[in-house]
Amino acid sequence: MSLQKLDIYHVRNLQQASLYPSAKINLIYGSNASGKSSLLEAIHLLGRANSFRSTTVKNVIHFAHKDLIVSGKVHFTNGHVSTLGIQHDGKQLQIRIDEETRRSRSELAYALPLQLIHPKSYQLLDAGPQLRREFMDWGIFNQHTDFLNHWRQFKKALSQRNALLKIRRLKELNVWNHELQQYGTIVANYRKQYLSELMPFFLTIVQQFLDLENLELKLIQGWDEESLLLDKLVEDQEKDLRYGFTHSGPHRADFQLLTQSRKAKDFVSRGQLKLLLLSLKLAQVEHLIKNGFQSGCVLIDDAVAELDFSSRSKLLEFLATMDVQVFMTATEQNEFGDLANIGEYKMFHVKHGDILEV
Ligand SMILES: Nc1ncnc2c1ncn2[C@@H]1O[C@H](COP(=O)(O)OP(=O)(O)OP(=O)(O)O)[C@@H](O)[C@H]1O
Ligand SMILES: [Mg+2]
Repeated sequence: MSLQKLDIYHVRNLQQASLYPSAKINLIYGSNASGKSSLLEAIHLLGRANSFRSTTVKNVIHFAHKDLIVSGKVHFTNGHVSTLGIQHDGKQLQIRIDEETRRSRSELAYALPLQLIHPKSYQLLDAGPQLRREFMDWGIFNQHTDFLNHWRQFKKALSQRNALLKIRRLKELNVWNHELQQYGTIVANYRKQYLSELMPFFLTIVQQFLDLENLELKLIQGWDEESLLLDKLVEDQEKDLRYGFTHSGPHRADFQLLTQSRKAKDFVSRGQLKLLLLSLKLAQVEHLIKNGFQSGCVLIDDAVAELDFSSRSKLLEFLATMDVQVFMTATEQNEFGDLANIGEYKMFHVKHGDILEV
């Protein structure tokens, strides 16, 4: 699918803007504080009903106004055209799809699937394991509708067990150990399967940019691979009681990106780390599309800074081969890389909150 038309009212410094994006690649440039990230934020609001920069949408509304509106026409691959709209008055969110008010944000996400890559995304490989668990789980949620249910059951079992540990109710622990064993193993198996499915997509993409040998995505499932989770829970019981929480399980999971059996993040350069991250995120999108899911928009904000001209050009060329609509920002027109081989694209200049097609 692609966004054919976008109308923005009162999103940060964008008072009013309309654009007709290319179905393929859209390059957005402008000075600092011109409104480039705000444009991507508007698209993000339309697809997810939240901002990637502020925890509340209230902050996104233009200072001089009481509400913001973003609407868009989405063209699906089967020819169907849908109108999406969101309005936020600082307190309440209204979602409209094809002129009808909808309650659920997930309907928006289905109509406009988004992948966002921005400077914070680079923490994925550097920061603690929580982000990496979310990365895996996002990919699985999108592919398997039943995963959410299993994941919730696992979370429930975990919090029940932790509560019992704190008040030392040993008799009831056994029930929750079994629940944790059942759902924890399902969650771990999903993650294992996901990483192995993602791997070939990741390798194909990363090979376009980098020459790193023996790359591997290795799941750390959260407990000793050789044992059953149940046995581990029983074995850990003394320790768990002492500290008041469960030491082993999928909530301790992580994955490592290895090159020649060493953690890539400890050896590669910053530019290489960025390209690894970009490849992982794009692999996630490719994996979904190749599994028959609706293609969507890839939003890339400030993400090519620090990449050399050749890497930027390769990135653009690769994006052009993907079945996605791309919105990408930079401060200068010549920062995107070589545009000679990318086929259809549009360039937009953002200036003091105005968006002009170049
Ligand atoms: N609620 C708001 N109302 C009006 N203006 C706002 C609001 N929030 C932020 N701004 C301003 O909007 C302007 C555009 O910000 P934005 O982050 O979109 O710029 P940018 O083009 O991405 O810049 P950079 O190149 O530095 O990333 C900034 O001057 C910012 O201070
Ligand atoms: Mg910005």
